[in-house]
Amino acid sequence: MSKGISIAVVGSGYVGLVATACFAEIGHRVICVDNDEAKLRTLQDGGVPIHEDYLPEVLDRHRGHSIEFTSDLRAATQAAQAIFIAVGTPQSRTGSADLSYVDAVASEIARSIDDYKVIVEKSTVPVYTNEWIRRVVERNGVPRDLFDVASNPEFLREGTAVVDFLHADRIVVGADTEKAGDLLRKIYAPLTSGTYYQSAHAVPGPHSEGNPPPVLLTSTKAAEIIKHASNAFLATKISFINVVANICEAAGADVEEVARGMGMDSRIGPKFLRAGVGYGGSCFPKDVAAFRHVAEQMGVDFALLKEVEKINEEQKRRFFQKVRSALWTFRGKKIGVLGLAFKGGTDDIRESPALDIVKQMLHEGSTVTAYDPAAAERAKETIPPGPQMRYVDDPYAAAQDADALVILNEWQEFAELDLKRLHYTLRYPIIIDGRNLYDPATMIESGFTYLSVGRPGLSHTRDAIAGQRMP
Ligand code: UDX
Repeated sequence: MSKGISIAVVGSGYVGLVATACFAEIGHRVICVDNDEAKLRTLQDGGVPIHEDYLPEVLDRHRGHSIEFTSDLRAATQAAQAIFIAVGTPQSRTGSADLSYVDAVASEIARSIDDYKVIVEKSTVPVYTNEWIRRVVERNGVPRDLFDVASNPEFLREGTAVVDFLHADRIVVGADTEKAGDLLRKIYAPLTSGTYYQSAHAVPGPHSEGNPPPVLLTSTKAAEIIKHASNAFLATKISFINVVANICEAAGADVEEVARGMGMDSRIGPKFLRAGVGYGGSCFPKDVAAFRHVAEQMGVDFALLKEVEKINEEQKRRFFQKVRSALWTFRGKKIGVLGLAFKGGTDDIRESPALDIVKQMLHEGSTVTAYDPAAAERAKETIPPGPQMRYVDDPYAAAQDADALVILNEWQEFAELDLKRLHYTLRYPIIIDGRNLYDPATMIESGFTYLSVGRPGLSHTRDAIAGQRMP
């Protein structure tokens, strides 16, 4: 085994597996613990259960040398100096984060501690979770000087998680003792000192030897809040631009121009201003609800977040109505769908607006032929294939003889379709684009009826002009 720090990562989901791979990549010895034996076997045999750029090669590089997969949390705890908890924190029925997995893992870690350990929260958790973990560990008889609890939230996006980890905008280390803070800083030193970027196999990204990522040291509580507040803020930005898109539609303006103009203000920034069918995924919906719940528990009224959620739901409904307006009625219609994952570049379908919209189309009596480069297998578990729902292997097969083509996420290949071919493949040349992948003028010149989000389209312009009212 190589030098570096001994690390245990508990949980082999998105966060845990990416952290395992990346900690090994920057020179540490990592034991990844999970209690799912089938998943462990897959990982031990060289399989990668999630679709992530660079993850297979980084895991291959270190598996068997500095990465080990096991179900033995006790042995992993005893071998490690730092134990990162990266288990799920699903949404409970009340909207709060369900911390039962964190609780169970903390108890088991406590029963295995024999010398000083730093227990690090990597999962997204409500503020004060560190105190709960501390209490659980103490309750299990571990003296206070044998452990610290720290918070090191992860800001990775699915699809680009490895690059996000190794080229983070910032590394947040929340620690209340110098000892814990020092260990975490040491763990990230290959990134923050820039030495990692000198290596020949370094994963490319925005940072370099001369421009390493900054580390931000905070209290543990502040780190916990940074994570929730960041995700809630980004979700707010998306809901905000979606409402602006609806205003643009009503006024006959183009939201892409508006977003560009807003984004050029350095105080606002251009990112996360893409109007669409609403946000989804394993983080935003859950974290907005959890943060709202945290606020409530603290006696703070964060009604803004309730509104953000409402707008997001409404955005899916509005888009569905837009498809209806193009088709008149859903019953008996054949619809081609591009995109099933909650966004492009991933196979994750959790809280996917695309799936909600497809379900609604099926419910209203359409048949759907869908294509997604990575998410079809997962989608089949939620919407099994049958006479009403077909999964195909390329975008033109989805469009074949369809009454309309609906674009629901933003894989690059969806933005590069051969428009001539698409035109003669479709039964009617109607495209309803939930991600604004095409220029409306080009689509109209190419003979399509093209509806998108927050932009004038051919049919839409006509309707908008016909129905225009002065305020
Ligand atoms: C997000 C955060 O970005 C990441 O920092 C955190 O660690 C986990 O949650 P992720 O869920 O992978 O990452 O997806 P992201 O790329 O942020 O997109 C989230 C959702 O918002 C997607 O449904 C996406 O399509 C949507 N989105 C994003 C928009 O609708 N418009 C935008 O401008 C940006």
